Amino acid sequence: MARISYVNGRYLAHKHAQVSVEDRGYQFSDAVYEVWSVMGGRLADLDGHLIRLQRSLNALRIDRPMSMAALMVVLNEVVRRNHIQEGMVYLQISRGVAPRDHAFPVNTKPSVVITARSVDRAAADLKAQSGVKIISQPDIRWGRCDIKTVSLLPNVLAKQIARDQGAHEVVFVDRDGFVSEGASTNVYMVDQSGVVKTRTLSANILAGVTRANLLQLASERQIRIEEGAFTLAELKSAREVFITAATSFLMPVICVDGHIIHDGKPGPLSAQLRAIYIEQARLSAGIV
Ligand code: PDD
Repeated sequence: MARISYVNGRYLAHKHAQVSVEDRGYQFSDAVYEVWSVMGGRLADLDGHLIRLQRSLNALRIDRPMSMAALMVVLNEVVRRNHIQEGMVYLQISRGVAPRDHAFPVNTKPSVVITARSVDRAAADLKAQSGVKIISQPDIRWGRCDIKTVSLLPNVLAKQIARDQGAHEVVFVDRDGFVSEGASTNVYMVDQSGVVKTRTLSANILAGVTRANLLQLASERQIRIEEGAFTLAELKSAREVFITAATSFLMPVICVDGHIIHDGKPGPLSAQLRAIYIEQARLSAGIV
């Protein structure tokens, strides 16, 4: 079946889906993006990602090219045309096409690209049952990591170092020695007294939609949560470590920089929270 992608008002065969070489997203990373998971053919946490999209657009002063209602129609249509049941949708909005000049061009129309693909959830579940390895890297990113821009070079380079070392993800450590987040995930630890800890939201990390939902679900279940800062050494001595993102939900971590976490198996709280999160995400997608 041919893959279909959306580019500026048109549904195209994926191999013919293209933007101009003068698109500001290509020239300057002058673009924002969002990623949704698709469950049972429906977008999960639709509103949370749309709200963050609007925040990112506001931060870069890019006009929303269509109404939220129209955007929702197009997102769902891309899912439908690709017959996706379990998968993900990627949306990118750039400032548009203009002769290359760093400052904002006048009256450009933002470019919209939407792609979708299926994901093997059974394989992801198996991975979650055994847990993944991560490695640390210095956080050399800019001061506005709260904006979901496509400007991801430090994340790309760090992820490749992880890949070269057979690791699944990177945990970024800031200049003060504190864990910030992953290259494409938020990072959590469960300390020896069972408290779930994750970095406080600031301009230095992305406010994960998965993170927000998970913390809400955990607090409703009287699971103790602490937003703050913890060091790499504290992470390594945790009882459990896990990461979250729309694409993988909650993934248990069993090894950091070659150091085995606890007994080297995904912990009970990670497994419980993963199950709770997936149940909520399915509900948010309208699946009962
Ligand atoms: N990444 N932190 C970073 C740097 C991210 O890139 C992401 C998501 C997250 C988790 O956010 P959320 O829970 O809203 O997916 C945290 C997406 C999945 C990506 O870049 O593909």
